[in-house]
Amino acid sequence: MPDKIPFNKISFTEKREVLRKRKELERKLEEKYSLTGQDFNANLEGLFHANYLKYWDYIQLETLLSLQRPRTDFADEKIFIVYHQITELYFNLILWEIDQLTKILPPKADILLNKIQRINRYLSQLTHSFDIMVEGMDVMQFRQFRMALLPASGFQSKQFREIEICCTDFVNILNKDYQNQLTDKADISEVFEFIYWKQGASETNPQTGETKETLTSIQFQEKYRDEFIKLANDVHDTNLLRLYELLPENDEQSKIKKENTKLALRELDTLININWRLAHFKSAIRHLIDKESIAQATGGTNWQKYLPPRFQKVIFFPNLWTEEEKNEWGKKWVESLRGK
Ligand code: HEM
Repeated sequence: MPDKIPFNKISFTEKREVLRKRKELERKLEEKYSLTGQDFNANLEGLFHANYLKYWDYIQLETLLSLQRPRTDFADEKIFIVYHQITELYFNLILWEIDQLTKILPPKADILLNKIQRINRYLSQLTHSFDIMVEGMDVMQFRQFRMALLPASGFQSKQFREIEICCTDFVNILNKDYQNQLTDKADISEVFEFIYWKQGASETNPQTGETKETLTSIQFQEKYRDEFIKLANDVHDTNLLRLYELLPENDEQSKIKKENTKLALRELDTLININWRLAHFKSAIRHLIDKESIAQATGGTNWQKYLPPRFQKVIFFPNLWTEEEKNEWGKKWVESLRGK
């Protein structure tokens, strides 16, 4: 029934239907309030006095727009901050989906697939939009304002590390050299030392050859190490890899569902561990390398050796890939660049 026609102008049958629905709603509301011992009439009166919800209040627009605080006067620093914030919000949505999944045990194939597809949609957006960092910022401005932000780095993104922890068994995000030596039973607080990203967080003194951990990494671990270890223990049996493995395969239907979930997880692995990382690496090449020199890297890392996915080889779901696919990890993009 159209909303705008006044009650006294509608037909008798329509009136009766409107009143029936209203009564039903009243009954449900009364039941809702009485369940928590609240006075229904008082709440109705509150509704009468309450202001209408406004978009800007609901979205918290003023607060949102007060969160960009550039440290320099370079106009493009705003793009840098906003794009990081957008990325963190997407990371948050990814964690939101994962968090819901870890609570459904045993996992339900349809829900698991649906949520992995949502995560893939977010990762896809993040990969495609990375051009904003590559082409959408002035290189000279970046090089200057970035110096005012040292030693902060996206490397310290807590949510990125949480996504990694929640996707797979902890052993899969350890340094490749240690992975074969450790079992799934290893104490996470002991093997945390070997997490893959600590490798990218060291700098070598060109004179002495001595290698030490960067301040970026030290500060990051001081703040979040304990939380990461706790999370890794919490999701030991409920990370995405484990949830997938728990899916049944006892009939044709469940086999198809498991196969579809496998494909979605392979896509997730590709999106985050190849495509996003490559898009990100491109931004570093664009902004930190010029013909004469390599501009000082953000967190002081040897990022050219560390960031490329073909060197990192972070693979969340190793069992879902063939040996050949794993050997070729991240190489295609490099080949396509050479072909250009
Ligand atoms: C012009 C843009 C960017 C440049 C030049 C850049 C550069 C770098 C560099 C050099 C590193 C290595 C660690 C270091 O030395 O600091 C790094 C790591 C990282 N950055 Fe960025 N970054 C950019 C944008 C972003 C954005 C928008 C995000 C989104 C949150 C991000 C997230 C990360 C993450 C998660 C790492 C760690 C990657 C890993 O451990 O494999 N970066 N970045």
